[in-house]
Amino acid sequence: MARIERAARVAVRKSSGLKFALSSFPDKVTIPNLVEVEGVTFGYDRRRPILRDIDMVVPRGRVVAIMGLSGCGKTTLLRLIGGALRPDRGEVRVEGRSVKGLSAEGLYAMRRKMGMLFQFGALFTDLSAFDNVAFQVREHTALRGALLRDLVLMKLDAVGLRGAAHLMPSQLSGGMARRVALARTIALDPMLIMYDEPFAGLDPLSLGVVGKLIRSLNDALGATSIVVTHDVQEALAIVDTVYYMSLGKVEFHGTPEQVRASGHPSLHQFAHGEPDGPVPFHYPAPDYAQDLLGGA
Ligand SMILES: Nc1ncnc2c1ncn2[C@@H]1O[C@H](COP(=O)(O)OP(=O)(O)OP(=O)(O)O)[C@@H](O)[C@H]1O
Ligand SMILES: [Mg+2]
Repeated sequence: MARIERAARVAVRKSSGLKFALSSFPDKVTIPNLVEVEGVTFGYDRRRPILRDIDMVVPRGRVVAIMGLSGCGKTTLLRLIGGALRPDRGEVRVEGRSVKGLSAEGLYAMRRKMGMLFQFGALFTDLSAFDNVAFQVREHTALRGALLRDLVLMKLDAVGLRGAAHLMPSQLSGGMARRVALARTIALDPMLIMYDEPFAGLDPLSLGVVGKLIRSLNDALGATSIVVTHDVQEALAIVDTVYYMSLGKVEFHGTPEQVRASGHPSLHQFAHGEPDGPVPFHYPAPDYAQDLLGGA
């Protein structure tokens, strides 16, 4: 078994052209879903629920997108999966274990296996690209010296930026900075990688590069990824499954093909970027003619 796993790792690394020091395949594929969200309801205060009865599964090895309009609760859902928030009702399970049942050490151990690219996740401006990635490794491991250096360079190489290791964030383009943040996110070979709006503010070229990296890093690391994004076209090109949320509920889930073919009205509007539909362009207002004439 160990021999096969080793051979598989080599094959994946060769086929992806990426090199990793500590490629970590999931231990044993006993639980097919790495993340299970069951009947989760949550509100920051009791009066206003943000998420309502959410069910979601993230199978091992897959890349899953969570999409939906601004404010529908996507980042909140990632915080619940990461154990930073606790559901009011329902349960989040990671590797089959209920997150709310974990002790502080259990939670810490679980988070160590997760990589998170935060929404607007900035680099430390006074640290070089190299030190931004190294910081993450130093924080969580005892690796120092040549081993640390090699690991950081391998991670930067995986995102195509080994040659930019010495540059400061102010010397990087937006797309490059995002890739350094990606290298930092995968520095410890997480089993679960969560990306919150990884494409925000990128030009189409950088966006395509980051999208392909998300997919290839997931596959090369044998990881599982959740991508929260508004970018429908890029997401549909790289993910296996889409969850579409609206007003705190899952409205639709399916493959990218099913999303494209979906007759679901608000998903169709979202996926095709139509300005008007079930989500109206106009904020509710009195009759236009009457409003104008009323002023006369
Ligand atoms: N810490 C907080 N305290 C109180 N309310 C919050 C907090 N964080 C988010 N909210 C509210 O929860 C709702 C969902 O926010 P969330 O950030 O999860 O949305 P989102 O889907 O990620 O939106 P976006 O696409 O704009 O990032 C919003 O109405 C927001 O105002
Ligand atoms: Mg958000």
